[in-house]
Amino acid sequence: MNPLDQARTLVEQAQRIAVLTGAGVSAESGIPTFRGPGGLWRNYRPEELATPEAFERNPQLVWEWYRWRRRLIAAAEPNAGHLALAELERRTPVFTLITQNVDGLHGRAGSRRILKIHGDIWLSRCTGCSYQRTDRATEDEAVPLCPDCGAMLRPGVVWFGEPLPRLVWEEAERAVYDSQLLIVAGTSAQVYPAAGLIGLARGATIEVNLDETSFSKAVTVALRGGCAELLRQLALTGPPSG
Ligand code: OAD
Repeated sequence: MNPLDQARTLVEQAQRIAVLTGAGVSAESGIPTFRGPGGLWRNYRPEELATPEAFERNPQLVWEWYRWRRRLIAAAEPNAGHLALAELERRTPVFTLITQNVDGLHGRAGSRRILKIHGDIWLSRCTGCSYQRTDRATEDEAVPLCPDCGAMLRPGVVWFGEPLPRLVWEEAERAVYDSQLLIVAGTSAQVYPAAGLIGLARGATIEVNLDETSFSKAVTVALRGGCAELLRQLALTGPPSG
């Protein structure tokens, strides 16, 4: 059996599926990945901007970067990969989508049960109190301030060196641990603790990625190629091809 058919058989047999997605799933929607070409913005690497220290040093710059990302995301549409995962959720008795992406494209594609372990770019939260809000602001303006306490608002995403939201993370761990199949799509699996989820899988594992990663050799089936087409193929029902 070729790897795609092997993977489709695993998908069809599984009653409990967990999926971990990364930036590669949204790449074909036109959103640059973090570590690939196009990830740079004004010569900054994302790792230089997505940190509490960067925000402390220059909140205006950090907000400009996030607003730039918001504009790209606002103009983007979910692709066939996002849609395939939403379809797979409808067909699978127990299905959990764990995403490192903050773009909201899984939700727009129709996915329901989504664990956003790195937060949500459309969320802003206060650095001084518990205030938070969702808004669609994309244009550059001054650093937004909290209407309750006047402190600076920050993007509602997880930065390097920060803990992940605890309850969401625990649910993600449980979903992977309890799954019969884990699909890892479009992530370089270099950022922890997210990448550590892969090690919790007790069932079969499928990797979907353009490139080899440090986990490729350990997975049950590695599929090389674009997420949009491969996830679409994975979610197709019916007997495997030839
Ligand atoms: P990366 O940019 O590190 O990795 C993207 C992966 O997707 C790479 O392995 C690419 O080879 C692959 N890829 C790119 N385009 C693809 C396509 N069309 N089809 C299939 N695969 C493709 O992004 P993440 O792994 O998501 O965290 O990065 C993890 C975290 O690092 C992000 O959530 C973000 C970042 O810093 C935070 O902001 C906390």
